[in-house]
Amino acid sequence: MNLNIGVIKGDGIGPEIVTEAMKVLDRTAKIYGHTCDYTQLLLGGASIDVHGVPLTDETIAGAKKCDAVLMGSIGGDAKTSPWYQLEPSKRPEAGLLAIRKALNLFANLRPAILYDELKGACPLKEEITEGGFDLMIMRELTGGLYFGERKTVTEDGVLTAYDSLTYNENEIRRIAKRAFDIAMKRGKKVTSVDKANVLDSSRLWRKVVEEVAAGYPEVSLTHMLVDNCAMQLVKNPKQFDVVLTENMFGDILSDEASMVTGSIGMLASASLNETKFGLYEPSGGSAPDIAGKGIANPIATILSAAMMLRFSFDLDKEADAIESAVAKVLKEGYRTIDIMSEGKTQVGTAEMGDLIASHLA
Ligand code: IPM
Ligand code: MG
Repeated sequence: MNLNIGVIKGDGIGPEIVTEAMKVLDRTAKIYGHTCDYTQLLLGGASIDVHGVPLTDETIAGAKKCDAVLMGSIGGDAKTSPWYQLEPSKRPEAGLLAIRKALNLFANLRPAILYDELKGACPLKEEITEGGFDLMIMRELTGGLYFGERKTVTEDGVLTAYDSLTYNENEIRRIAKRAFDIAMKRGKKVTSVDKANVLDSSRLWRKVVEEVAAGYPEVSLTHMLVDNCAMQLVKNPKQFDVVLTENMFGDILSDEASMVTGSIGMLASASLNETKFGLYEPSGGSAPDIAGKGIANPIATILSAAMMLRFSFDLDKEADAIESAVAKVLKEGYRTIDIMSEGKTQVGTAEMGDLIASHLA
């Protein structure tokens, strides 16, 4: 099979971690008799440097021609980078939000798995992590506060900012269906997270999620308020299977979930639309403070590439091979600095990529 993959290396540690994911993809393709065709696309700060804007029509059109896009990370240091002298709608992050919208990538899957081998890097007590955990955050990605109207105005001499949070029932229904479909293939449990004790959008969310749940009698549904969920994730993460939530809550809870697995450097993500097309990126940021040092953890990006093989190309065997290569390398004691613990062997970004590639077969 020929895999037609768009590549957005991005900013900060992006180019380093994407290079390692491509190394692992190429090796996987070789073993299983596929070929990878890569098209380089610009987004974020890298696009600003060349075109003056974080996203161009060219990048959107280029992405649409690919079967899937693998991405690093977007953004720079807000204090020092000239990108942040630009107005907010021209900054790197605006490009990321705009490409998600342009490609209609409404379903963001962020799996948080505690590897047995990484228990040492997990900040939770052992009695809480005993037996590990494996949860999937299903974050709505093209609606809510991040896409609502916003403005800053002076009212009666007082500076006032508005951000509006809107969801319609169709946007809720399609993401809820995705969550229940995924739950059917996992532990058959959905926790829908909202703030229905305060927000109208959350009350509609709850109503529509219940309607969708009626079509999935085998899946159990629980509603949880977002503040309680933030607490439960550190108190008893084992209780979760699929966590379904809106855009901003998902943004926050997925960072929290990543930390309880030991490091954000381990958290992969897939952003999907109604077709097989997807954008695959690590959940973590561009970490400009460690960019170019060769110490970033490429595992989240490598696991994102595995998700790409699974969801966009239906190559489950190949995806399994990458995931088990990651597990083997961790088992043998290799660690990047973010997940390092006593007695383990510290390696850099490229070495971690080489190790994973060489454990594929
Ligand atoms: C993420 C990031 C982005 C988001 C930012 C960079 C706009 O935090 O993918 O979680 O909030 O979606
Ligand atoms: Mg985030």
